[in-house]
This record gives sequence, C-alpha cells and structure tokens, in this order.
Amino acid sequence: MYINTTSFKTVYYLNNNYMKNHIELCINGETHHAYGEDAFLPLSDYLRTKLHLVGTKEVCIEGDCGACTTLLGRLKNEKFYYETIDSCISYVYQLNNCHVVTVEGIKNSKLNSVQESMITSHGAQCGYCTPGIVVSLYSFFNSCSKKTCTKSDIQDALTGNLCRCTGYETIVEAGLTLDNNSIEKLSDIYSEDKLLAILGKETKENIEINTNDYVFYQPVTLKEALKLKNENPDTKILAGGTDLHVMCNKRDFSLKKILYVSNLKELKSIEVKDNHITIGAAVTLSEFEQSVSEYYTDLKEFLNLFASPQIKNIGTLVGNIANASPIGDTLPFLLVMDSELELESVNGKRKVNMNNFYKGYKSLAMESNEIITHVNIPLLKKDEILKLYKVSKRKHLDISSFSAAIRMKEKNGIIESFIIAFGGVGPTVQRIYEIESYLTGKRLCEDILNEAAQMIENIIKPISDVRGHKEYRLQLAKNILKKFYFELLESDKKKVLA
Ligand SMILES: Cc1cc2nc3c(=O)[nH]c(=O)nc-3n(C[C@H](O)[C@H](O)[C@H](O)COP(=O)(O)OP(=O)(O)OC[C@H]3O[C@@H](n4cnc5c(N)ncnc54)[C@H](O)[C@@H]3O)c2cc1C
Ligand code: FES
Ligand code: FES
Repeated sequence: MYINTTSFKTVYYLNNNYMKNHIELCINGETHHAYGEDAFLPLSDYLRTKLHLVGTKEVCIEGDCGACTTLLGRLKNEKFYYETIDSCISYVYQLNNCHVVTVEGIKNSKLNSVQESMITSHGAQCGYCTPGIVVSLYSFFNSCSKKTCTKSDIQDALTGNLCRCTGYETIVEAGLTLDNNSIEKLSDIYSEDKLLAILGKETKENIEINTNDYVFYQPVTLKEALKLKNENPDTKILAGGTDLHVMCNKRDFSLKKILYVSNLKELKSIEVKDNHITIGAAVTLSEFEQSVSEYYTDLKEFLNLFASPQIKNIGTLVGNIANASPIGDTLPFLLVMDSELELESVNGKRKVNMNNFYKGYKSLAMESNEIITHVNIPLLKKDEILKLYKVSKRKHLDISSFSAAIRMKEKNGIIESFIIAFGGVGPTVQRIYEIESYLTGKRLCEDILNEAAQMIENIIKPISDVRGHKEYRLQLAKNILKKFYFELLESDKKKVLA
C-alpha cells in the first residue's frame, strides 16, 4: 500500500486502484476533509460540534421538524444546484464533492432579505425553528425565477419545517412580502469557478473509509459496486438514507458496512422509451416528481403529500421500493402500473415484476449480491384512468394509515380492466386480485362498486397500530371504491356513467 499525503489529500493504491480515504466537501465556500469517524457523523453534528456552526439546530433528529435544514449544492453538468436537506439524517460520507451552505452562509456581511423579513414580520418567538425556516424560504427564492410568489408556493416550500410557537401566518407573511429581485442569490455569494477549482468537476476516485467499527465504500462505477457487493454481501446499500439514518438516529441500529450508490452515474438516468419510463436507482424523489407528473394523472398531487422537500431532495424512489414498508407511498402506484425492477449482480442482469417482489414483511425476492439498478414503469394508455389515495392523520409530512391505487380501463360503460392495490392493510403492499376479477367485464355503476366493497371484508386482514385501528382501515378500504366512483361522476366520465 502506498500513502500519499500531498496537498492535504490522503490516497492509497489498493490492488492498483486509486482509493481515497476521506470525504472532501465545501462548507460555506471553505474546503473541509472529513477523515475516519468524522465522516460517519450526521452533517448536523459535524457542523455544530466540529465547526461550531451552531445556527443549524437539532430537535427531532429524524427528518420531521426541519430545524436542521441546510442547503446541499450538487454538481450537475459542471454547475452547482442547491436544494434543502435535513442535515440530521444526512451523513458526512454522503457529501463528497458537494457544497453545503448553512444559515450562516446564506448572507454576506449583513442579513439577507429573508432574514430581515422574518424579523419585520415577527416570524419568530423562541427562534429555535427559525434558522431552518429561513434556509427553506431562502432556498425557494434562490432557485425560483418568479418575481413574486403565492401563498401556496410559500406553504409548499415550508412543508418540512415545524414551528411550535409563532404560528405560521407571520412566517408565511414574511415570505409573501419578499421581492425575489432583491434577494442575493448563492451564485452572487459563492464563485462557481472557485468551487469547481476546489472540488473538481466530478468524483474520479473510489472512496473507502475504515474506522475500528465502520466501513464506507463509495465506488465510482456500477461494475465496481457490484464487485464490492459480491465480495461483501453483508454490506448495506445506502442511497438517500432517509429511512436508514432515521433508524441509526432513533433505534438501536447501526450501519457497520455501507455501500453508497447515489453517486453512481449509471443509476442517475431518467428515460422515456417504448411506452415506459425508466428511473435509475440514484434518482431522487424530487427528480422523479418533476419528470413523471406529465405522464400520470394524480401522481403530481399525490407526491405533493409525500414527505417534505428536504426528504424528497435526497431520498430515492428505489429506496422507497427496497425499504419495502407496507405503507411505502409509491408502492400501490408501482404495483398497479405493473412496474418492473432491473436487478444486477456480478452474475448478470435480471428483471422482476414488482408484483412478485414482496415475499412477506420486509422480505424481498432479491439476492444478497444484487443491486436494484432501475425501475421501468409503463406509461398510462390514453383511455386508462389512474387514481391514487393517501390517508394520514395530518395532510402533509405524515406517514400513511392507508393508501390505495386504482387503474381502470372502461369502454361504453363496461369495465375492460380494473387493477387495484392497497397499502397499510397487511405485511406488504398488496394487489386485490379478487376485486379485479370480479369487476372486469361488469357495467361501471354504483351498485357494482358497492358489491365489490362488501367483498373486501373477506379479503384483507388489517392490523391495529398507532396510525389506525383495524376496523378503521377496513372501512377506508371499502370506502375507497365509493370515493373512486363519485370522483368519476364529477369528472368527464359523467356521460359514461349516466
Ligand atoms: C420525515 C420523513 C418523512 C417521510 N415521509 C414518507 C412518506 O410520506 N411516504 C413514504 O412512503 N415514505 C416516507 N419516508 C420514508 C423515506 O423517505 C422513503 O422511503 C425514501 O424513498 C427512502 O429512500 P432513500 O433513498 O432515502 O433510502 P435509504 O434510506 O438509503 O434506503 C432504504 C432501503 O433501501 C435499500 N436500497 C436503497 N437503494 C437500493 C438499491 N439501489 N438496491 C437495493 N436496495 C437499495 C437500502 O439498503 C435500505 O434497505 C419519510 C421519511 C422521513 C424521514
Ligand atoms: S432535527 Fe428535526 S429534521 Fe433534523
Ligand atoms: S419560533 Fe419557537 S418553534 Fe418556531
């Protein structure tokens, strides 16, 4: 092994491969190298304890409150794009080649207009949530080209930020009084050329960081990732970490061996071809939301209720699939669309229909040396209807008690195909095949859907938990068919049903 410590970079050559043993990132324009255990810290801890940037607060440490919101600048086509993340569940090892901007870094010498506006609108009392709120508001204006914004723009930007004492009226007011033209943008504060000179245009080195307790691998190519997974089948694949890091922070769970895949170029693609859209495993939920909403009615609105911008800007669609939660919100949609996963290992590639992927609670039809590389989602046909439903105690940023997806094709009032899936009613998200066969070929009318609703009682066996009693979930499942019917009545299908 050869160690080279020139220009602050420690690298070594392992089996002739160039290997870096630390994370290199910029924070508020300054370069930082995180070695050893520092690389395994949540970003919020690193900022507060190592750099004394205590403007970033920690409250829930599970991505729910937004007090720890920071901006994450990632390189795309040699340009930095900034989005908000929750720094309590984003770990330093995920941030190689990134530019992190904290609440201290969104201004030059004086307060910026977002900070001023929060003061003049009386948007803070205890102030604990305020840095996170300021960063989220600033992020909205930093990437928005509109001169002024609407109340719902501001509310959407703040979905991931809780305030326990001020009340949101004055906070939203602070956003509404801002003139986008007067806000200093990050490109005015930080020279892109300087950042590029520090960080380089892309990561070219494999990264391996070892401590006594932990190992982190960040390969540059999918081929190397597959080799690593084959040699270390017990290594946990990590993408956004919005599921895994909550478990690390809040449960007795630790990620001893990590294979990070979100930087792999081969997994970043979004492609529409042959009546399918193919989403790479490193595509974030925000990118997914932006790229697919034009193809699927209802999905845009549905994804608006999925988590918060901070979560969707780093969490991935494939992470939601592989996490295999019975209340994973994208899963009913993917099941009714008959989506297909592409899996790869050193032995080759294979495809699995998502309806055959879930074997039991968190049990997947996947080998320990495989990585999910892509998900192929068929596009909706012209005459198909898609409806998605999510029921939760709170409308925004809440885990579902129940979810459903229905995909239907009807001709001259007759149901040609009816596909339905439920979340939150069993150990996995499930298709309700009995209802599908019962409804196919029948006349589309209220009585038939009521009959199908009655059948549900004998098909699903929901359990009671903190998010809902079993009878409540059963009633929701029955009601969803009625809701679907009444929504059709209100839509342009009215004539068919008359
Ligand atoms: C505050 C908060 C709100 C949330 N709200 C919602 C919500 O409204 N709806 C919802 O459904 N979920 C929600 N989630 C859960 C989570 O954000 C999603 O499940 C997200 O899609 C996970 O993606 P990730 O990339 O962060 O996954 P990670 O945490 O990185 O990984 C999750 C699982 O997927 C596996 N994995 C990741 N990539 C691959 C791959 N390429 N191949 C094989 N396995 C892989 C990992 O090993 C792990 O088991 C929320 C989470 C938080 C913290
Ligand atoms: S501390 Fe609450 S989201 Fe991070
Ligand atoms: S001002 Fe106290 S939590 Fe928001």
